[in-house]
Amino acid sequence: MTGLFKPTRRSVLLGAGAMALPRFGLAQSGFEVLEPKVGMAQVLPEPYPQTEIWGFNGISPGPQIRVKQGQRVQRRLVNSLAEPAAVHWHGIRNDNAMDGVPGLTQEAVAPGATFDYDFIAPDAGTYWYHTHYNTTEQMDRGLYGALIVQEADALDIDREEVLIIDDWLLRQTGEIDPEFQTPMNRSHAGRMGNFVTTNSLFQPVLPAKTNERMRLRLINASNARIFPLGLQGLAGWIVAYDGMPVATPERVGDFFLLAPAQRVDLIVDVTAKPGELAAIMWATEQEPQIQVGFDVTGAASRTARPAPRALPANDETGIIDLGSAVQARLVLAGGAMGTLQEAELDGEVKTFRQLAQANQFWALNGVVGMTDKPLVDVGLGETVRMKIENESSFPHAMHLHGQHFRAILPDGSFGPMRDTLYIGGLENAEIAFVASNPGKWLYHCHMLSHQDAGMKTWMNVRA
Ligand code: C2O
Ligand code: CU
Repeated sequence: MTGLFKPTRRSVLLGAGAMALPRFGLAQSGFEVLEPKVGMAQVLPEPYPQTEIWGFNGISPGPQIRVKQGQRVQRRLVNSLAEPAAVHWHGIRNDNAMDGVPGLTQEAVAPGATFDYDFIAPDAGTYWYHTHYNTTEQMDRGLYGALIVQEADALDIDREEVLIIDDWLLRQTGEIDPEFQTPMNRSHAGRMGNFVTTNSLFQPVLPAKTNERMRLRLINASNARIFPLGLQGLAGWIVAYDGMPVATPERVGDFFLLAPAQRVDLIVDVTAKPGELAAIMWATEQEPQIQVGFDVTGAASRTARPAPRALPANDETGIIDLGSAVQARLVLAGGAMGTLQEAELDGEVKTFRQLAQANQFWALNGVVGMTDKPLVDVGLGETVRMKIENESSFPHAMHLHGQHFRAILPDGSFGPMRDTLYIGGLENAEIAFVASNPGKWLYHCHMLSHQDAGMKTWMNVRA
Protein backbone atom coordinates (compact mmCIF):
# COMPACT_ATOMS: atom_id res chain seq x y z
CA MET A 1 0.00 0.00 0.00
CA THR A 2 2.94 2.29 -0.03
CA GLY A 3 3.12 4.60 -2.96
CA LEU A 4 -0.31 6.03 -2.32
CA PHE A 5 -0.53 9.78 -2.51
CA LYS A 6 2.75 10.00 -4.40
CA PRO A 7 3.11 13.58 -5.42
CA THR A 8 3.73 14.08 -9.08
CA ARG A 9 6.63 16.21 -10.12
CA ARG A 10 4.42 17.87 -12.59
CA SER A 11 3.67 21.48 -12.04
CA VAL A 12 2.93 22.50 -15.60
CA LEU A 13 -0.73 22.30 -16.38
CA LEU A 14 -2.82 21.82 -19.38
CA GLY A 15 -4.95 24.84 -19.99
CA ALA A 16 -8.42 24.49 -18.58
CA GLY A 17 -9.89 24.35 -22.05
CA ALA A 18 -7.40 21.84 -23.41
CA MET A 19 -9.56 18.83 -22.72
CA ALA A 20 -13.03 18.36 -24.08
CA LEU A 21 -15.03 16.92 -21.23
CA PRO A 22 -18.62 15.88 -21.30
CA ARG A 23 -20.91 18.12 -19.28
CA PHE A 24 -23.58 16.50 -17.20
CA GLY A 25 -26.74 18.45 -16.69
CA LEU A 26 -28.27 18.73 -13.26
CA ALA A 27 -31.75 17.96 -14.49
CA GLN A 28 -30.71 14.74 -16.15
CA SER A 29 -28.83 13.12 -13.27
CA GLY A 30 -29.54 14.97 -10.02
CA PHE A 31 -25.79 15.29 -9.55
CA GLU A 32 -24.29 18.74 -9.61
CA VAL A 33 -20.84 18.87 -11.10
CA LEU A 34 -17.78 19.43 -8.97
CA GLU A 35 -14.95 20.05 -11.36
CA PRO A 36 -11.39 20.55 -10.17
CA LYS A 37 -9.67 22.79 -12.67
CA VAL A 38 -7.31 25.67 -13.14
CA GLY A 39 -8.62 29.14 -12.37
CA MET A 40 -7.38 32.66 -11.76
CA ALA A 41 -7.93 34.54 -8.50
CA GLN A 42 -6.93 37.89 -7.09
CA VAL A 43 -5.39 36.47 -3.91
CA LEU A 44 -2.78 39.19 -3.45
CA PRO A 45 -4.37 42.63 -3.36
CA GLU A 46 -4.23 44.71 -6.50
CA PRO A 47 -2.00 45.89 -8.15
CA TYR A 48 -0.26 42.54 -7.62
CA PRO A 49 -1.03 40.09 -10.39
CA GLN A 50 -3.61 37.36 -10.09
CA THR A 51 -2.72 33.87 -8.93
CA GLU A 52 -3.24 30.73 -10.95
CA ILE A 53 -5.07 28.40 -8.57
CA TRP A 54 -6.63 24.98 -8.80
CA GLY A 55 -10.19 25.12 -7.56
CA PHE A 56 -13.39 23.14 -7.59
CA ASN A 57 -15.28 24.69 -10.50
CA GLY A 58 -12.27 26.96 -10.94
CA ILE A 59 -12.72 28.91 -7.71
CA SER A 60 -11.21 28.69 -4.24
CA PRO A 61 -12.89 28.11 -1.88
CA GLY A 62 -14.99 25.90 -4.15
CA PRO A 63 -18.78 26.23 -4.24
CA GLN A 64 -20.37 26.06 -0.82
CA ILE A 65 -22.42 22.90 -0.40
CA ARG A 66 -25.34 23.31 1.97
CA VAL A 67 -27.90 20.67 2.91
CA LYS A 68 -30.25 20.00 5.79
CA GLN A 69 -29.34 17.30 8.27
CA GLY A 70 -30.32 13.89 6.92
CA GLN A 71 -30.39 15.07 3.33
CA ARG A 72 -28.50 13.51 0.47
CA VAL A 73 -25.40 15.06 -1.08
CA GLN A 74 -24.87 14.16 -4.72
CA ARG A 75 -21.89 15.50 -6.58
CA ARG A 76 -20.29 14.28 -9.78
CA LEU A 77 -16.54 14.77 -9.71
CA VAL A 78 -15.46 15.64 -13.24
CA ASN A 79 -11.70 15.78 -13.18
CA SER A 80 -10.37 18.55 -15.41
CA LEU A 81 -6.92 18.53 -13.86
CA ALA A 82 -3.93 17.07 -15.68
CA GLU A 83 -3.48 14.59 -12.80
CA PRO A 84 -5.78 12.31 -10.77
CA ALA A 85 -8.08 13.63 -8.05
CA ALA A 86 -10.56 12.48 -5.41
CA VAL A 87 -12.84 14.24 -2.93
CA HIS A 88 -12.90 13.60 0.81
CA TRP A 89 -15.86 14.87 2.84
CA HIS A 90 -14.01 15.81 5.98
CA GLY A 91 -15.82 15.09 9.24
CA ILE A 92 -18.82 13.35 7.72
CA ARG A 93 -19.74 9.94 9.14
CA ASN A 94 -19.84 8.74 5.59
CA ASP A 95 -20.36 5.47 3.77
CA ASN A 96 -16.83 4.13 3.48
CA ALA A 97 -17.09 3.86 -0.31
CA MET A 98 -17.79 7.62 -0.48
CA ASP A 99 -14.88 8.67 1.75
CA GLY A 100 -12.65 9.65 -1.15
CA VAL A 101 -9.30 8.11 -0.21
CA PRO A 102 -7.45 6.76 -3.26
CA GLY A 103 -5.98 3.33 -2.64
CA LEU A 104 -8.09 2.73 0.45
CA THR A 105 -11.73 3.44 -0.41
CA GLN A 106 -11.66 4.12 -4.16
CA GLU A 107 -9.43 4.42 -7.18
CA ALA A 108 -8.09 7.88 -7.88
CA VAL A 109 -10.15 9.58 -10.58
CA ALA A 110 -8.03 9.95 -13.72
CA PRO A 111 -7.87 13.17 -15.72
CA GLY A 112 -11.03 13.41 -17.77
CA ALA A 113 -12.80 10.72 -15.74
CA THR A 114 -15.73 11.12 -13.36
CA PHE A 115 -16.86 9.71 -10.03
CA ASP A 116 -20.26 10.05 -8.39
CA TYR A 117 -20.33 10.86 -4.69
CA ASP A 118 -23.69 10.10 -3.17
CA PHE A 119 -24.27 10.06 0.58
CA ILE A 120 -26.48 11.19 3.42
CA ALA A 121 -25.18 13.86 5.80
CA PRO A 122 -26.15 12.39 9.18
CA ASP A 123 -24.90 15.14 11.50
CA ALA A 124 -25.61 18.85 11.44
CA GLY A 125 -22.51 21.02 11.60
CA THR A 126 -19.62 22.69 9.82
CA TYR A 127 -17.75 20.29 7.57
CA TRP A 128 -15.64 20.69 4.48
CA TYR A 129 -14.58 18.87 1.39
CA HIS A 130 -11.15 18.72 -0.14
CA THR A 131 -9.05 16.75 -2.54
CA HIS A 132 -7.32 13.68 -1.14
CA TYR A 133 -4.86 13.02 -3.93
CA ASN A 134 -1.42 14.64 -4.05
CA THR A 135 -2.98 16.51 -1.17
CA THR A 136 -0.15 18.81 -0.18
CA GLU A 137 -0.01 20.34 -3.62
CA GLN A 138 -3.67 20.11 -4.63
CA MET A 139 -5.00 21.55 -1.39
CA ASP A 140 -2.36 24.21 -1.29
CA ARG A 141 -3.37 25.27 -4.78
CA GLY A 142 -6.94 25.72 -3.54
CA LEU A 143 -8.94 22.50 -3.90
CA TYR A 144 -11.34 22.72 -0.96
CA GLY A 145 -14.73 24.12 -0.01
CA ALA A 146 -17.26 24.24 2.81
CA LEU A 147 -19.90 21.58 3.41
CA ILE A 148 -22.56 22.97 5.71
CA VAL A 149 -25.18 20.67 7.21
CA GLN A 150 -27.97 22.71 8.72
CA GLU A 151 -29.93 21.86 11.84
CA ALA A 152 -33.60 21.08 11.26
CA ASP A 153 -34.70 24.29 12.99
CA ALA A 154 -33.27 27.74 12.43
CA LEU A 155 -31.23 29.26 15.25
CA ASP A 156 -32.00 32.54 16.95
CA ILE A 157 -29.36 34.51 15.06
CA ASP A 158 -29.38 37.44 12.67
CA ARG A 159 -27.08 35.86 10.12
CA GLU A 160 -24.14 33.54 9.60
CA GLU A 161 -20.79 33.60 7.86
CA VAL A 162 -18.62 30.73 6.64
CA LEU A 163 -14.98 31.76 7.03
CA ILE A 164 -12.28 29.54 5.54
CA ILE A 165 -8.80 30.48 6.66
CA ASP A 166 -5.80 29.55 4.56
CA ASP A 167 -2.21 30.59 4.09
CA TRP A 168 -0.63 30.77 0.66
CA LEU A 169 3.03 30.60 -0.25
CA LEU A 170 3.18 33.22 -2.98
CA ARG A 171 5.81 34.96 -4.99
CA GLN A 172 5.59 38.64 -5.90
CA THR A 173 4.41 37.55 -9.31
CA GLY A 174 1.35 36.03 -7.66
CA GLU A 175 2.59 32.55 -8.51
CA ILE A 176 2.17 29.79 -5.91
CA ASP A 177 5.60 28.52 -4.88
CA PRO A 178 5.86 25.23 -6.78
CA GLU A 179 8.32 23.51 -4.38
CA PHE A 180 5.71 21.49 -2.53
CA GLN A 181 7.88 18.69 -1.23
CA THR A 182 11.00 20.28 0.18
CA PRO A 183 12.79 18.18 2.83
CA MET A 184 12.67 21.28 5.02
CA ASN A 185 8.85 21.43 4.98
CA ARG A 186 8.48 17.70 5.31
CA SER A 187 10.83 17.35 8.28
CA HIS A 188 9.80 20.48 10.20
CA ALA A 189 6.44 22.12 10.86
CA GLY A 190 5.07 21.64 7.34
CA ARG A 191 4.54 23.99 4.44
CA MET A 192 3.73 27.43 5.78
CA GLY A 193 2.40 30.20 3.62
CA ASN A 194 3.55 33.80 3.62
CA PHE A 195 0.14 35.30 2.96
CA VAL A 196 -2.91 34.60 5.10
CA THR A 197 -6.45 34.93 3.78
CA THR A 198 -10.06 34.30 4.71
CA ASN A 199 -12.18 33.01 1.83
CA SER A 200 -9.13 33.86 -0.31
CA LEU A 201 -9.27 37.55 0.68
CA PHE A 202 -6.73 39.43 2.77
CA GLN A 203 -8.39 40.89 5.88
CA PRO A 204 -11.91 40.98 4.48
CA VAL A 205 -14.29 43.43 6.13
CA LEU A 206 -17.91 42.42 6.65
CA PRO A 207 -20.81 44.66 7.61
CA ALA A 208 -22.18 44.38 11.14
CA LYS A 209 -24.47 46.14 13.60
CA THR A 210 -24.16 46.64 17.33
CA ASN A 211 -25.96 43.81 19.20
CA GLU A 212 -26.22 41.77 16.07
CA ARG A 213 -25.90 38.02 16.73
CA MET A 214 -23.98 36.01 14.17
CA ARG A 215 -22.96 32.42 13.78
CA LEU A 216 -19.40 32.24 12.48
CA ARG A 217 -18.30 28.93 11.00
CA LEU A 218 -14.49 28.88 10.98
CA ILE A 219 -12.57 26.32 8.95
CA ASN A 220 -8.77 26.03 8.83
CA ALA A 221 -7.87 24.87 5.32
CA SER A 222 -4.17 25.61 5.57
CA ASN A 223 -1.60 22.89 5.05
CA ALA A 224 0.12 23.28 8.38
CA ARG A 225 -0.54 26.55 10.16
CA ILE A 226 -2.06 26.54 13.64
CA PHE A 227 -4.09 29.69 14.24
CA PRO A 228 -4.56 31.10 17.73
CA LEU A 229 -7.65 33.27 17.26
CA GLY A 230 -9.33 35.80 19.50
CA LEU A 231 -12.20 38.27 19.36
CA GLN A 232 -12.32 42.03 19.62
CA GLY A 233 -15.52 44.03 19.86
CA LEU A 234 -17.39 40.74 19.84
CA ALA A 235 -18.65 38.59 22.71
CA GLY A 236 -18.38 35.00 21.62
CA TRP A 237 -19.23 31.44 22.58
CA ILE A 238 -17.91 28.25 21.03
CA VAL A 239 -20.94 26.11 20.25
CA ALA A 240 -19.28 23.34 18.21
CA TYR A 241 -15.88 21.80 17.53
CA ASP A 242 -15.31 20.04 14.21
CA GLY A 243 -19.02 20.31 13.52
CA MET A 244 -20.12 18.57 16.71
CA PRO A 245 -22.11 20.65 19.22
CA VAL A 246 -20.82 21.10 22.75
CA ALA A 247 -23.26 20.44 25.59
CA THR A 248 -22.74 23.93 27.04
CA PRO A 249 -21.55 26.90 24.96
CA GLU A 250 -18.06 27.94 26.02
CA ARG A 251 -17.35 31.61 26.45
CA VAL A 252 -14.35 32.62 24.33
CA GLY A 253 -11.47 33.80 26.51
CA ASP A 254 -8.21 35.28 25.26
CA PHE A 255 -7.87 32.99 22.30
CA PHE A 256 -8.63 29.52 21.03
CA LEU A 257 -6.65 27.29 18.69
CA LEU A 258 -7.66 26.31 15.21
CA ALA A 259 -5.26 23.63 13.99
CA PRO A 260 -5.24 22.46 10.35
CA ALA A 261 -8.56 20.89 9.31
CA GLN A 262 -10.27 21.86 12.56
CA ARG A 263 -13.47 23.85 12.68
CA VAL A 264 -15.03 25.99 15.36
CA ASP A 265 -18.58 27.30 15.33
CA LEU A 266 -19.02 30.54 17.22
CA ILE A 267 -22.05 32.49 18.21
CA VAL A 268 -20.94 36.10 18.56
CA ASP A 269 -22.72 39.25 19.64
CA VAL A 270 -21.36 42.51 18.30
CA THR A 271 -20.47 44.62 21.33
CA ALA A 272 -18.56 47.31 19.41
CA LYS A 273 -20.36 50.58 18.83
CA PRO A 274 -20.51 52.09 15.35
CA GLY A 275 -17.02 53.12 14.30
CA GLU A 276 -15.29 50.87 16.87
CA LEU A 277 -13.19 47.88 15.89
CA ALA A 278 -14.85 44.50 15.78
CA ALA A 279 -12.73 41.66 14.48
CA ILE A 280 -11.55 38.11 14.62
CA MET A 281 -7.93 38.54 15.61
CA TRP A 282 -5.06 36.26 14.75
CA ALA A 283 -2.51 36.18 17.58
CA THR A 284 0.64 35.92 15.48
CA GLU A 285 3.98 35.42 17.19
CA GLN A 286 4.64 39.13 16.76
CA GLU A 287 1.56 41.25 17.27
CA PRO A 288 -2.09 40.39 16.88
CA GLN A 289 -3.39 40.99 13.40
CA ILE A 290 -6.91 41.41 12.03
CA GLN A 291 -8.03 38.18 10.39
CA VAL A 292 -11.58 39.27 9.60
CA GLY A 293 -12.85 42.77 10.29
CA PHE A 294 -16.41 43.96 10.86
CA ASP A 295 -17.54 47.43 9.87
CA VAL A 296 -20.07 48.34 12.55
CA THR A 297 -22.80 50.70 11.47
CA GLY A 298 -25.99 51.28 13.45
CA ALA A 299 -27.58 48.88 15.92
CA ALA A 300 -29.50 45.67 15.37
CA SER A 301 -31.34 46.09 18.67
CA ARG A 302 -31.16 48.21 21.82
CA THR A 303 -29.86 45.44 24.03
CA ALA A 304 -27.83 42.27 23.64
CA ARG A 305 -29.51 38.88 23.88
CA PRO A 306 -28.88 36.53 26.79
CA ALA A 307 -26.12 33.92 26.32
CA PRO A 308 -26.91 31.45 23.53
CA ARG A 309 -28.21 27.96 24.14
CA ALA A 310 -26.41 24.85 22.99
CA LEU A 311 -26.98 23.62 19.46
CA PRO A 312 -29.24 20.56 19.29
CA ALA A 313 -27.18 17.40 19.80
CA ASN A 314 -26.56 15.10 16.85
CA ASP A 315 -27.65 11.47 16.94
CA GLU A 316 -24.21 10.21 17.80
CA THR A 317 -24.12 10.70 21.55
CA GLY A 318 -20.41 10.23 22.01
CA ILE A 319 -21.16 8.38 25.25
CA ILE A 320 -18.15 6.17 25.81
CA ASP A 321 -17.86 3.29 28.26
CA LEU A 322 -14.16 2.75 28.78
CA GLY A 323 -14.69 -0.41 30.80
CA SER A 324 -14.67 -2.73 27.83
CA ALA A 325 -12.37 -0.66 25.60
CA VAL A 326 -9.87 -2.20 23.21
CA GLN A 327 -6.53 -0.63 24.15
CA ALA A 328 -4.20 0.77 21.54
CA ARG A 329 -1.01 2.78 21.60
CA LEU A 330 0.39 5.13 19.01
CA VAL A 331 3.88 6.57 19.05
CA LEU A 332 4.47 9.55 16.75
CA ALA A 333 8.14 9.97 16.06
CA GLY A 334 10.48 11.62 13.61
CA GLY A 335 11.12 15.01 12.13
CA ALA A 336 14.08 17.26 12.63
CA MET A 337 15.56 17.33 16.13
CA GLY A 338 13.69 14.13 16.94
CA THR A 339 14.69 10.83 18.47
CA LEU A 340 13.77 8.53 15.60
CA GLN A 341 16.78 6.28 14.90
CA GLU A 342 15.24 3.89 12.44
CA ALA A 343 11.88 2.88 11.06
CA GLU A 344 10.30 0.54 8.56
CA LEU A 345 9.76 1.81 5.03
CA ASP A 346 8.29 -0.50 2.37
CA GLY A 347 8.93 -3.48 4.63
CA GLU A 348 12.59 -2.68 5.29
CA VAL A 349 14.17 -1.16 8.35
CA LYS A 350 15.99 2.05 7.45
CA THR A 351 18.10 4.44 9.44
CA PHE A 352 16.81 7.98 9.88
CA ARG A 353 19.46 9.09 7.44
CA GLN A 354 18.27 6.61 4.81
CA LEU A 355 14.70 7.73 5.41
CA ALA A 356 15.74 11.34 4.93
CA GLN A 357 17.34 10.39 1.63
CA ALA A 358 13.95 9.01 0.58
CA ASN A 359 12.36 12.32 1.73
CA GLN A 360 10.56 10.42 4.51
CA PHE A 361 10.75 11.64 8.08
CA TRP A 362 7.90 10.35 10.23
CA ALA A 363 6.88 7.02 11.68
CA LEU A 364 3.75 5.83 13.43
CA ASN A 365 4.66 2.93 15.74
CA GLY A 366 7.94 2.59 13.88
CA VAL A 367 6.40 2.37 10.41
CA VAL A 368 6.61 5.04 7.72
CA GLY A 369 3.44 5.43 5.65
CA MET A 370 0.58 3.04 4.96
CA THR A 371 0.69 -0.60 6.00
CA ASP A 372 -1.29 -3.60 4.85
CA LYS A 373 -2.43 -4.18 8.42
CA PRO A 374 -4.52 -1.53 10.14
CA LEU A 375 -3.35 0.20 13.29
CA VAL A 376 -6.61 -0.81 14.96
CA ASP A 377 -8.97 -3.58 13.89
CA VAL A 378 -12.28 -3.74 15.77
CA GLY A 379 -15.87 -4.83 15.33
CA LEU A 380 -18.74 -2.42 14.92
CA GLY A 381 -19.81 -1.03 18.28
CA GLU A 382 -16.55 -1.77 20.05
CA THR A 383 -14.86 0.98 22.02
CA VAL A 384 -11.28 1.96 21.29
CA ARG A 385 -9.03 3.71 23.79
CA MET A 386 -5.74 4.89 22.36
CA LYS A 387 -2.74 6.48 24.06
CA ILE A 388 -0.82 8.81 21.77
CA GLU A 389 2.75 9.67 22.58
CA ASN A 390 4.27 12.46 20.55
CA GLU A 391 8.01 11.86 20.75
CA SER A 392 8.68 14.51 18.13
CA SER A 393 9.39 18.17 18.76
CA PHE A 394 6.58 19.29 16.48
CA PRO A 395 2.84 19.63 16.97
CA HIS A 396 0.50 17.49 14.90
CA ALA A 397 -3.17 17.50 13.93
CA MET A 398 -4.29 13.89 13.91
CA HIS A 399 -7.45 13.28 11.89
CA LEU A 400 -9.61 10.17 11.96
CA HIS A 401 -11.93 9.59 9.01
CA GLY A 402 -15.48 8.34 9.39
CA GLN A 403 -16.19 8.82 13.09
CA HIS A 404 -15.70 11.19 15.97
CA PHE A 405 -13.60 10.66 19.06
CA ARG A 406 -13.13 12.40 22.36
CA ALA A 407 -9.87 13.22 24.05
CA ILE A 408 -9.53 11.78 27.55
CA LEU A 409 -8.27 14.72 29.56
CA PRO A 410 -5.63 14.43 32.31
CA ASP A 411 -8.33 14.55 35.01
CA GLY A 412 -10.12 11.62 33.37
CA SER A 413 -12.98 13.65 31.93
CA PHE A 414 -13.79 13.67 28.22
CA GLY A 415 -13.11 16.49 25.81
CA PRO A 416 -15.56 17.47 23.06
CA MET A 417 -16.30 15.17 20.14
CA ARG A 418 -13.85 15.94 17.36
CA ASP A 419 -12.40 14.56 14.17
CA THR A 420 -9.00 16.28 14.36
CA LEU A 421 -6.87 16.45 17.50
CA TYR A 422 -4.14 18.99 18.13
CA ILE A 423 -1.15 17.46 19.95
CA GLY A 424 1.72 19.72 20.99
CA GLY A 425 5.37 18.82 20.50
CA LEU A 426 6.57 16.18 23.02
CA GLU A 427 3.06 15.98 24.47
CA ASN A 428 0.93 12.96 25.09
CA ALA A 429 -2.77 12.58 24.51
CA GLU A 430 -5.40 9.94 24.80
CA ILE A 431 -8.50 9.47 22.72
CA ALA A 432 -11.48 7.15 22.86
CA PHE A 433 -14.29 6.43 20.48
CA VAL A 434 -17.02 3.94 19.75
CA ALA A 435 -16.34 2.36 16.36
CA SER A 436 -19.70 3.29 14.92
CA ASN A 437 -19.05 3.20 11.21
CA PRO A 438 -17.87 0.11 9.32
CA GLY A 439 -15.04 0.37 6.82
CA LYS A 440 -11.42 1.26 6.29
CA TRP A 441 -10.70 4.65 7.78
CA LEU A 442 -7.61 6.68 7.19
CA TYR A 443 -5.92 8.15 10.25
CA HIS A 444 -3.26 10.74 9.53
CA CYS A 445 -1.64 14.02 10.38
CA HIS A 446 -3.47 16.88 8.65
CA MET A 447 -0.23 18.80 8.40
CA LEU A 448 -0.04 17.57 4.88
CA SER A 449 3.72 17.52 4.49
CA HIS A 450 3.82 15.22 7.53
CA GLN A 451 1.21 12.98 5.95
CA ASP A 452 3.28 12.75 2.78
CA ALA A 453 6.45 12.09 4.76
CA GLY A 454 5.08 9.12 6.68
CA MET A 455 2.31 10.09 9.12
CA LYS A 456 -0.57 8.05 7.82
CA THR A 457 -2.14 4.80 8.80
CA TRP A 458 -5.65 3.37 8.95
CA MET A 459 -8.19 1.70 11.17
CA ASN A 460 -10.54 -1.09 10.25
CA VAL A 461 -14.08 -1.34 11.62
CA ARG A 462 -15.58 -4.73 10.75
CA ALA A 463 -19.26 -4.73 9.92
CU1 C2O B 1 -9.29 16.34 5.76
CU2 C2O B 1 -7.74 12.65 5.31
O1 C2O B 1 -8.54 14.51 5.50
CU1 CU C 1 2.11 16.22 11.82
